[in-house]
Amino acid sequence: MEMLKVGLVGGGGSDSFFGRVHQRAACLDGTRQVTAGALRSRPDAALEAAKAWGIRGFPDYRALVDAVAKGDPALDYVVIATPNNAHFEPARACLDAGIPVLCEKPMTFTVDEAETLVERVKAGDVPFVLAHTYTGHPMMMLARELVRRGAVGEIRKIEAWYRQGWLATALERGNQKQAAWRTDPARTGISNCGGDIGTHAFVAATWVSGLAVKRVSARLNAFVTGRELDDDFNVMAEMDNGATALIHATQIALGYRNDHGFRIFGTRASLEWHQEAAEKLLVRRGVHDETYWLGANYEYFPESVASYLRVPAGHNEDFFEALANLHTTMERLVRKRRGEDVPPPYDHPGVEEGLAGMRFVRAAVTSARQEGAWTDL
Ligand SMILES: NC(=O)c1ccc[n+]([C@@H]2O[C@H](COP(=O)([O-])OP(=O)(O)OC[C@H]3O[C@@H](n4cnc5c(N)ncnc54)[C@H](O)[C@@H]3O)[C@@H](O)[C@H]2O)c1
Repeated sequence: MEMLKVGLVGGGGSDSFFGRVHQRAACLDGTRQVTAGALRSRPDAALEAAKAWGIRGFPDYRALVDAVAKGDPALDYVVIATPNNAHFEPARACLDAGIPVLCEKPMTFTVDEAETLVERVKAGDVPFVLAHTYTGHPMMMLARELVRRGAVGEIRKIEAWYRQGWLATALERGNQKQAAWRTDPARTGISNCGGDIGTHAFVAATWVSGLAVKRVSARLNAFVTGRELDDDFNVMAEMDNGATALIHATQIALGYRNDHGFRIFGTRASLEWHQEAAEKLLVRRGVHDETYWLGANYEYFPESVASYLRVPAGHNEDFFEALANLHTTMERLVRKRRGEDVPPPYDHPGVEEGLAGMRFVRAAVTSARQEGAWTDL
């Protein structure tokens, strides 16, 4: 099988975070590699960063997309790992040129942009995967399969959360790069905490349960003095089957790192998963609970999930592997389209989930501005 060639927008510079994580995740299976990129916002810095990475550099995403459209380099997909205000333009340009996109979350800066991407993906029938990393955890995929099989019964209540403590103080004033743009409305959008990690909790509540949010009542707080946007995001949601979901995220929970997870309460069982102990999925049945463990040797994984497992039980697969699984889904979409024989791609979040996430954050911000008034999506 020929190695897939991946392009990257964003990620250059020694103090940047997630571009490098994508580069490692792309390489994990030895079937994909990052070969070209427009890695920074300034053209000279972008070219310099590409040189440092040993890949072909482009001054900006337009030059990259133009070159790919002409066939040199021939990229199989492009990853977008820029701050939120710089997702839409490169994503649209790639889609218009027929290039598959693996896009960071939150999908866009505004709901209008998200709607445009949905149209473009549908019109061009181009693969699009949204990088909600945690959905690549096989245990989160298994949870979704258990719900689909009816193991949980009718869902009555959901709790989904993401607790961090890194923004409990005004880190952005010290010019910490990731804090600076996340707290800046011009670069992050109408919500800091909600857009950044509330969307992960939203995806956990909706993608795992298979339910959609109908309307929300929200309270957003900005605890750190001088901060324009929320650093604490609390939403009560009414789901489309009548269930209630508590979806919350915070960046001011001192001592908490990446405490992401969910509980789903149904008429037959409750599901529970914690990202920081990701190899375990708990199914509470009322009398005897069941614990499912991660491991390629366990037969309870349906084939759709098993083909994403790499190592036997007792070896943690974690963040890089979860993100690598989203690259695997993109790889399978690309190869399937070419007629190659590959296992079926799992339906990881895509452009529709990206639009739903943007609508969810907008409704939460609108509700919070009206003292928690119920607001439709
Ligand atoms: N899926 C996840 O689990 C996860 C985790 C962390 C971050 N993210 C997302 O990844 C994105 C980047 O976050 P980060 O923490 O890596 O930020 P960062 O500030 O560390 O990195 C941003 C990178 O984009 C580059 N850049 C900025 N504007 C650009 C432009 N116009 N063209 C090309 N490059 C440009 C910067 O030079 C930098 O290399 C965000 O959307 C964030 O929400 C997702």
